[in-house]
Amino acid sequence: MAVIGIMDSGVGGLSVFREIRRLMPGHHYLYYSDNAHCPYGDKSPEYIRKRLHEITGFFLGKEADAMVLACNTATAAAIEDLRACYDIPFVGMEPAVKPAALGTMSGVIGVLATAGTLKGSKYLNTKGRFSDRIRIEEKVGRGFVELVEAGKLTGPEAEATVEASLKPLLETGADRIVLGCTHYPFLLETLQKVATRLGYPDVQFIDPAPAVAARLQSVLSERGLAPASDEASADAAVATEFFASGSPATLLSFAGKI
Ligand code: DGL
Repeated sequence: MAVIGIMDSGVGGLSVFREIRRLMPGHHYLYYSDNAHCPYGDKSPEYIRKRLHEITGFFLGKEADAMVLACNTATAAAIEDLRACYDIPFVGMEPAVKPAALGTMSGVIGVLATAGTLKGSKYLNTKGRFSDRIRIEEKVGRGFVELVEAGKLTGPEAEATVEASLKPLLETGADRIVLGCTHYPFLLETLQKVATRLGYPDVQFIDPAPAVAARLQSVLSERGLAPASDEASADAAVATEFFASGSPATLLSFAGKI
């Protein structure tokens, strides 16, 4: 069994954590919501790196064996720096451009993410590898993180906010939309509802969380940290601890639902 620290600017990383726990229920998980500093999306890379050093220190104090940056924005700003500074493995997020590029029938894919992720060199490199074969359209999910942090996942306000960013992306002809921020999968029902209402019922939304969970699994086994299969136990829920830099209310309410 390994101790694994998972962080996000808020509850978004729980969309990744639920896949990780499904795949590997036998580990001890620590989840940290940095909600006192949320959203990360429009903050400077320096600011985010500083936060990530603090959070890494917190996890190391709890003897974490590995850390997951369940946040695209934090990955873009800080993962290389963290890897250079600490010995534990770091697994980060990457917008799922590849599966979208392989799956598109229209030749156009959309990427919904924060401004920080779309400016990051990691994303720009990935984009460069595919942009000679397909067209990639981007849009910041303006207000999406705030909606999720407020627990407003459905309803008129969620639909109006989602529509403002999704509609222009759908109008480009994109038939695959990459969810490039870990908060966005919590809006999937609303995204699908709005797309259908606008006349695009077949558009597919792509969440990289299962791929990230698989990546963590292989990183852990390379380090000899895979749990024995019979460790997958009913104690898994007990072995998860939740922390927040601000009020823990939203985190605990989401944690009870995933
Ligand atoms: N969930 C995060 C991400 O994946 C952070 C969003 C934010 O705090 O703006 O980018």
